[in-house]
Amino acid sequence: MTHPSIDVLLSETRNFPPSEDFKAKANSRDASVYETAARDPEKFWEKWAKELKWDNPWKTTLDWKPPHAQWFKEGKLNACVNCVDRHVLDEKGGEHARSKKKALIWEGEPGDTRTLTYGDLYREVNRFANVLKKIGLQKGDRVAVYMPMTPEAVIACLACARLGLVHSVVFGGFSAESLRDRINDAEARALITADFGWRRGKRIELKKAADEALQGTASIEKVIVYRRDEKEPVCTMKSGRDLWWHEEMQKAAEFTAPVSCHAEDMLFTLYTSGTTGKPKGIVHTTGGYLTGVYATTKWVFDMRDEDVYWCTADIGWITGHSYVIYGPLSNGATVFIYEGSPDWPEKDRFWRLIEKYKVTIFYTAPTAIRAFMKWGTDWVKRCDLSSLRLLGSVGEPINPEAWIWYQEQIGGSRCPVVDTWWQTETGAIMVTPLPGLTTTKPGSATRAFPGIAAEILNEEGQIVKAGGGFMAITKPWPSMLRTIFNDDARYQQTYWSKWQGRFYFAGDGAHRDEEGYFWFMGRVDDVMNVAGHRIGTMEVESALVDHPSVAEAAVVGKPHDIKGQALVAFVTVKEGVATSAALAEVLKQHAAKKIGAIAKPDDIIFTADLPKTRSGKIMRRLLRDIAEGKALGDTTTLADAAVVESLKQKYAGTEE
Ligand code: PRX
Repeated sequence: MTHPSIDVLLSETRNFPPSEDFKAKANSRDASVYETAARDPEKFWEKWAKELKWDNPWKTTLDWKPPHAQWFKEGKLNACVNCVDRHVLDEKGGEHARSKKKALIWEGEPGDTRTLTYGDLYREVNRFANVLKKIGLQKGDRVAVYMPMTPEAVIACLACARLGLVHSVVFGGFSAESLRDRINDAEARALITADFGWRRGKRIELKKAADEALQGTASIEKVIVYRRDEKEPVCTMKSGRDLWWHEEMQKAAEFTAPVSCHAEDMLFTLYTSGTTGKPKGIVHTTGGYLTGVYATTKWVFDMRDEDVYWCTADIGWITGHSYVIYGPLSNGATVFIYEGSPDWPEKDRFWRLIEKYKVTIFYTAPTAIRAFMKWGTDWVKRCDLSSLRLLGSVGEPINPEAWIWYQEQIGGSRCPVVDTWWQTETGAIMVTPLPGLTTTKPGSATRAFPGIAAEILNEEGQIVKAGGGFMAITKPWPSMLRTIFNDDARYQQTYWSKWQGRFYFAGDGAHRDEEGYFWFMGRVDDVMNVAGHRIGTMEVESALVDHPSVAEAAVVGKPHDIKGQALVAFVTVKEGVATSAALAEVLKQHAAKKIGAIAKPDDIIFTADLPKTRSGKIMRRLLRDIAEGKALGDTTTLADAAVVESLKQKYAGTEE
């Protein structure tokens, strides 16, 4: 990791109190909320839930049968109504003032643009929900979404929510095989995709990948294809199965009644990497999730009516779900979406977009910030970024140097920086500054959001007040994952077994300083974070072993200046296979083809053997040390210590 050691972090003395001006106007101004929320978290969350629109009230705020929580369980609501209808229709069914407010402002990578008001979004979502209804989908059915970053990606999710359909978004950068596996695990009945999307001036042919995926799926009945460019549609359609989005929309009814959902009905599943080869479908439900993302958007981003908010995440990730779609739209915000890459056609694309659309709130990942730093401030200086008033960071630890650069160069030393720690599983932001209240320290995500019981625990489950340990959440929270789709045993095992069902185990190592601020140190399990994207070592290993030349593979992360971590694969080949640079390249491509470009190892190290414990477990710690070029730790439990020495030498020779 490029993240500095904890000693370096804890000697960080710079701190940034909120400005008087920001403090005076902030949505969250009363510091006593931390204490009141801690005293009665249910009451705190109930207050937030009441700001949403419910069809039926709940009676029980929390029903906690560890490790299963139900929040607001008798309540009924619809997530789409909360994100769209509520801003278009007032209580009496008349027009709401926000109906003419911009909901989505979009720019495609080639420069095409569109703006949808809340009224427009309402019309599109209603029509598309009708399309989904007409193909026979019913409440609870799963729908896979494999889309470029266009308004239609948002419309697709909201239309699912309107009907109580469960969306399962698959990031457009994932391979056909990854898409196939996710479709099969969720048993999705329909797929919503596009013919293509743009990335770095190239067409990413999503439908082609989808067609390949669909050769191995039995559950998909219909595919709806959005035409990215009406002048040049680029795909083949299978008759009886594939439908064009634009054709179906023309035939669809203008209004589709929202389905009133139970608070605990599934809103979506989203697959994320774990420590085994098989990604898990994280399950989020309706009422609690919406409450969590609504509250955190309002307080962490200090969201107001006049803001133009840009979260750069793709909707294929949880950040896109919570902070492109459900959080900001439930707040009635104006959301900017950009389709493509930050360096296309030039490295100032993001800054030009901020200038052009007068973006006020900007939320991105440290990996992007480090890339911008490397590209240099000249790209930034030529643009007017004075519209910005708040900056956010998410996805991985942010090193103080990047934090300071972000605050000074992008935020003009004027904008608070909120470093937000959370996970696919937590649904919403868990540890973060509140910009009008918290004095920030570069590199620290600071404090738990009010109502969130975050602690550092030691191996035995005791609280570490100051010092290092495992990140844990000790009380249920509304937006927590409810289970893993079709695999509750894995849910219990992964998150709740470490401390016998008492506390949620996040899988992160963290440190708490004297003031109680959290400093995140990265994962403590076999999950890596490459450019802010989560990827499991076992997933990449399975992909490599799938190649006919490979006998065995072990994958670890090594520090990378920009990506935070990069993948290094130690590979043993089968009898009779000759190793070569060409084979290494083939294997890299193979991993990318099997999973997606994010799974492509930076280095492949061929080795005759892998260091194993006497019980036959691969010693990843050792490989990690070799990959990081560190001195070796204790090797006495190794089957053959000589293996390590030869590996170490080999690696030293290949390092750039
Ligand atoms: O290791 C933590 C890291 O990202 C992991 C969660 O990844 P994912 O589920 O893909 O969600 C990413 C976006 C919420 C965590 O276990 N992580 C996320 N945010 C931070 C972070 N590490 C340090 N600081 C953060 N702000």
